[in-house]
Amino acid sequence: MAGVTVKDLSKKYHINGRIIEALSGVNLSIGDGSFITVVGRSGCGKTTLLRILCGLEEKTAGEIVFNCNGGYSGEKIKAGIVFQEPRLMPWLTVEQNMAFSLMKNDDRHLVKTRVYEHLDMLGLTAFKDAYPSQISGGMAQRVALGRTLCYDPDLILMDEPLGALDAFNRRKLQNELVEIFLKSGKTIVFVTHDVDEAVYMGQKVVVMDKGKVMDETLIDMPYPRQVTSKEFFEMREEILCTILKEPEYR
Ligand SMILES: Nc1ncnc2c1ncn2[C@@H]1O[C@H](COP(=O)(O)OP(=O)(O)O)[C@@H](O)[C@H]1O
Ligand SMILES: [Mg+2]
Repeated sequence: MAGVTVKDLSKKYHINGRIIEALSGVNLSIGDGSFITVVGRSGCGKTTLLRILCGLEEKTAGEIVFNCNGGYSGEKIKAGIVFQEPRLMPWLTVEQNMAFSLMKNDDRHLVKTRVYEHLDMLGLTAFKDAYPSQISGGMAQRVALGRTLCYDPDLILMDEPLGALDAFNRRKLQNELVEIFLKSGKTIVFVTHDVDEAVYMGQKVVVMDKGKVMDETLIDMPYPRQVTSKEFFEMREEILCTILKEPEYR
């Protein structure tokens, strides 16, 4: 397991002599074994933050400190990312796609056990021999999630993974993710532009705007959350108000 402390993180991109400040002075504490949701409109730096956290992108300035099992770890921890699109290999079956992250593991028995366990957990066993073109979008996203879970990361990063799903599949996968979180105790950072989704799943909702963290709200409602409850409605309104305070929405 792993927690992360982000200190004064900045990221600048250079395009044709122009500087784009994707992140500036981001401070964030991600508790070990916590479920954090990050909301913000398009272009506010959510993807950049996740890409830096999992080492796909270099930071320009600042510090990222990983804390493992309560202690400090100078080593990079194992992070897995789930993208908005499933990004499956079309020539591999569901089972082979899920085993992809374990390709270099020589213990074939362990690989098979782990993959079968996750196929079962995600309701994919009957489709293990199907190819990506033969399954629905919801199933494909489950396979992508399974591939990341099979890798057994300390930190799971998710970049709007449910954005392309219909409302029914979306709620189903939200519930499954919460269950996986409760069972595994993994640290999850889930990015979305949907405030309802952020409040439904997160223990802490982080609001980002223009490359900065605008606000953090702790949500201590028990799971599964009741979207029709007064408490849920109030939380959602509070976070929406923070976002709508920005001058361009007035
Ligand atoms: N590889 C890149 N090169 C140049 N600019 C980028 C790159 N990736 C993102 N950006 C810019 O950085 C800003 C933040 O982007 P991003 O992190 O993708 O935001 P979000 O995920 O919140 O939509 C945007 O202005 C975007 O255009
Ligand atoms: Mg993005």
